Amino acid sequence: MSTAALDPADLDRVAVAALARIDSGMLLGLGSGRTAEAFIQRLGERVRGGLQIQGVATSERSAALARRENIPILPFEEVERLDVAVDGADEVAPDLGLIKGLGGALLRERVVAYEAARFIILVTPEKLVEKLGSRVPVPIEVVPFASASAARHLAALGGKPAVRKNADGYPYQTDNHNWILDTAFGPMDAPAALDARIRKIPGVMDTGLFLDMATLVLVAEAGAVRELHRQR
Ligand code: A5P
Repeated sequence: MSTAALDPADLDRVAVAALARIDSGMLLGLGSGRTAEAFIQRLGERVRGGLQIQGVATSERSAALARRENIPILPFEEVERLDVAVDGADEVAPDLGLIKGLGGALLRERVVAYEAARFIILVTPEKLVEKLGSRVPVPIEVVPFASASAARHLAALGGKPAVRKNADGYPYQTDNHNWILDTAFGPMDAPAALDARIRKIPGVMDTGLFLDMATLVLVAEAGAVRELHRQR
């Protein structure tokens, strides 16, 4: 889905700030999207300079980039626990609840982040919102067979679902061979309750609502990086 332009200098600034949290010997989850790719590129420089880390990737695209950067990538099934997962997000609420998945990798991003002791999110300031759903729809990954019925049930929950399409007009397919229903709900008062109801719809594989997962958000502000920590 089309997303607003991001300033490469901002992406680089948060990427460098995230790198300060990475030590030799760590096993990392590597996110997807433009901000995560800026991190992977900076990480590659450090690996070529001698940093000893290994990673697992949240998308085929990030895996390919990491390999080009000489970052050792392990198959996810060989990994039990990650030290840190680093990823981007599409919206960040004050409690560090997130919307993710405009880049299409939400399911693997959640699976990888779930195994990580720390989940660090890198964003630019326009992604900070008071309520999730204010700027972007919620990406919802569905099995193609159930896309029409799931769309009806999402509409019954007050959403406006749209099958994500490629430029050629065909449905976008995730790395898991599923489709995405980008579903606008508007600003949400109770995202956890809505998420629970969406997950009950047969055929829904995952939602872009990442609640109670991020431990640290780094925000690229003018000339600085702000840290937002989750209150426990
Ligand atoms: C990928 O599926 C997403 O969750 C991304 O992390 C998110 O869309 C942010 O991407 P950008 O850094 O490209 O804005």
